[in-house]
Amino acid sequence: MLSTRINPFKPSAGHLPPVLIGRDMVLADFEEGLDNGSGAPGRLMRITGARGVGKTVMLAEFRRIAEKRGWQTISETASDGMAQRLVDKLQPRKGNFSFSFEPSISVMNVGGSLGGVHYEKNRMPLTLRETMSLRLDELEKHGNGLLVTMDEAQAATRADMVAIATAVQHLTSEDRNLAFVFAGLPSMSSKWLNDSVMTFLRRAQPERLSDVDLAEVSHALADTFQETGMILEGEPLRIATQATAGYPFMIQLVGYHIW
Ligand SMILES: Nc1ncnc2c1ncn2[C@@H]1O[C@H](COP(=O)(O)OP(=O)(O)O)[C@@H](O)[C@H]1O
Ligand SMILES: [Mg+2]
Repeated sequence: MLSTRINPFKPSAGHLPPVLIGRDMVLADFEEGLDNGSGAPGRLMRITGARGVGKTVMLAEFRRIAEKRGWQTISETASDGMAQRLVDKLQPRKGNFSFSFEPSISVMNVGGSLGGVHYEKNRMPLTLRETMSLRLDELEKHGNGLLVTMDEAQAATRADMVAIATAVQHLTSEDRNLAFVFAGLPSMSSKWLNDSVMTFLRRAQPERLSDVDLAEVSHALADTFQETGMILEGEPLRIATQATAGYPFMIQLVGYHIW
């Protein structure tokens, strides 16, 4: 039951809506990927769609699902240095993890230390792979896995993408308990056309998010109002539904203002 005093609609980027409308298939694909283990298509996924269609929210929902199963999740938004940030997040901090991390010479720079190390660019693919592998060793002991989500993938640098593609490809071929999902504008695929990164992108299961069905919008609006103690039905509900055009951001905006 939603609170009757707080506006339940969330017309702002990345905020979980009261009802995630029309995304059951994508969610099922993802859950199936987790259930079916390494090698399942849903373990490597590429979500594309226009701004405001619900990509960021989808990634958040995926993390919630994975966390419920005891997985560790890491979320990144693409910008320069992303591979390095991933490495940092995967490294155990004092008291955070139950195992001790012994950096091996092969993956560390000379003079590197665990506190904010900077790796040579050309070593990054190996570094990332090794760091993820160590993290997975620990998680898999308890039957858990690792989900990494990357948002705004169209803004990633080529070096970061190469590092991530290399690491994920190796770990997948080793049947590690890993899932990787990236989301971005439709342009992200064309950015690396004819590039080794492209092979990786192509292998990912494509999920193209678009506007949602108006019948589902109508139900969700009516339900959300009802749960906060209000009735929206008949002609007003029809007009509200039409006004959203099925565009997820607009559903929240229209709902918010009517509420
Ligand atoms: N499936 C959905 N049903 C209803 N509202 C949604 C849905 N997906 C996203 N929204 C809403 O749309 C807006 C934009 O979502 P967001 O994930 O930030 O989009 P994107 O990352 O694609 O730009 C947010 O206000 C969010 O609450
Ligand atoms: Mg977004």
